Amino acid sequence: MGASMQVVETPLSDVVVKFRLRTPSDAKVREIAESISQVGLISPVVIDRNNILLAGYHRYLAYQQLGLDKIPSIVKDVDKSVSELVEIDENLKRNELNHIETADHILKREELLKELGLLYQRGDNQNNMSDEKLTIEDVAAGVGLSKRSYQKRKQISKLNPEVKDLLVETDWANCFEELVKLSAESDDIQILVCNLLISGKCRSWKQAFYQAKMEDFKLHRQEDLDFSFKERWGQYAKSMMKFNRVNDELKALCDLVNHDEDLRVKKGSLRFGETEIKLHQMNPEHARFAIDYFTNVGDLICDPFSGRGTTAFTALHLNRKFIGFTIDDKAYELTTDAIQKHIDVSDGDFELLKGCGCEMKDFEGEGRFVDAVFSSPPYYLKAEPYSTDPRDLCNMSIEDFDSKIDEMFKNLARVIKKSNYKEKIFHPVMMVIGTARDAENGIHDMQYSFQSLAKKHGFTLWDTMHVELNNPHLVCSIKRNYEFRFTHKSHETQLTWVLF
Ligand SMILES: C[S@@+](CC[C@H](N)C(=O)[O-])C[C@H]1O[C@@H](n2cnc3c(N)ncnc32)[C@H](O)[C@@H]1O
Repeated sequence: MGASMQVVETPLSDVVVKFRLRTPSDAKVREIAESISQVGLISPVVIDRNNILLAGYHRYLAYQQLGLDKIPSIVKDVDKSVSELVEIDENLKRNELNHIETADHILKREELLKELGLLYQRGDNQNNMSDEKLTIEDVAAGVGLSKRSYQKRKQISKLNPEVKDLLVETDWANCFEELVKLSAESDDIQILVCNLLISGKCRSWKQAFYQAKMEDFKLHRQEDLDFSFKERWGQYAKSMMKFNRVNDELKALCDLVNHDEDLRVKKGSLRFGETEIKLHQMNPEHARFAIDYFTNVGDLICDPFSGRGTTAFTALHLNRKFIGFTIDDKAYELTTDAIQKHIDVSDGDFELLKGCGCEMKDFEGEGRFVDAVFSSPPYYLKAEPYSTDPRDLCNMSIEDFDSKIDEMFKNLARVIKKSNYKEKIFHPVMMVIGTARDAENGIHDMQYSFQSLAKKHGFTLWDTMHVELNNPHLVCSIKRNYEFRFTHKSHETQLTWVLF
């Protein structure tokens, strides 16, 4: 209150308490009454030109208690705001407003209270005057609400103005929770939801939210990337993937080695009629996705179990470098030969090392130089018999197999570059693994042992992805599966770890 303002004596009976002020405290009124009777009123109350009390409710009540006729008051020229406030309170009391109108009313009411200096502001002095100012709890109580539900109602007023205009005349404006939810969305989503509802394209909020989010994703989020998932991989990257065979340059490259009869050992026990089942081959499309999605151009990709070279061909095809291990001389020859003849690689961009991929003897003394690992190790217990080599993990007991994998993770933890979460730099170790059935011993799950061993060497499990397989002998095993109450295994799992 400026000192220049004139103080007038207003008859107490003329003062009107029109809208709800702070709930008075009897003790406070008594205390003020006592102080007034001893030293007189220290600060005048504030009224508008219609004598509506704006500040000083306790002092007004103290005057009443003391039976005094006149009260020193400052008259503020704020009639318009006050009459607006009075009108708002009346509208709210009539209870005929929908949720959008209610929200706008309580917001306006709060703005007016602030304008009139009646709202308690952070930093207000704790003197007599501010003591009577309204807190948000008081403002909420003024319209009969708890602080929480007041704020929730007010949230609706934050809706995009265009959306409010479109919805206010419709029944959608009676849906409280949905409007609160809508008000928390971006303007783009709000407008999409609103148009879907108004146009009748969606008959429920749930449907409209879902469709709007999908449209928004297509319109905007995708723009942040300079490619389309669908165009690049035919699908979004998700934890269940299916890769179809594609006959292209990459497949032709892989087939150079893959189709060599010496390497494509037949699965002896699986012969259905005239058709021999050949060893499972990794689909180059899976390798393509893993390397393209999880690694960067120029990265050095390592495969400790290079086998028929799918990782090598895919990595080079996608402009990465390759280093890997093989225990098979024939695979070594075929892979190096095919790469020399068909791929234009610079010196040092491709290196296939002879030796065990778990021991990694050639990496002894090396620092962190590997950008990523992508590999498909053998399965437990000769599920896929690759060779008779005693170093081949497929010929080992589960214990020996696991101790080799232990050694592999120990070596990888030394040579893989460190990832950095904050900088979004990832150097993944990806292993494609599965389960092996072992008659009455049940299932041996490679996930379990790989996860514990990786953890032991400090790796963090970062992603799991299930890849659906096109398994040719399903029809032949349906009956047997049912008899043993098995389900047919139709997926492999790609586990991805990083080292922070
Ligand atoms: C599932 S295959 C890999 C397939 C490979 N991703 C491809 O598509 O060509 C596993 C390979 O690991 C080889 N292998 C087994 N034990 C090994 C070891 N100790 N060191 C290196 N390679 C090994 C097997 O001979 C087999 O060729």
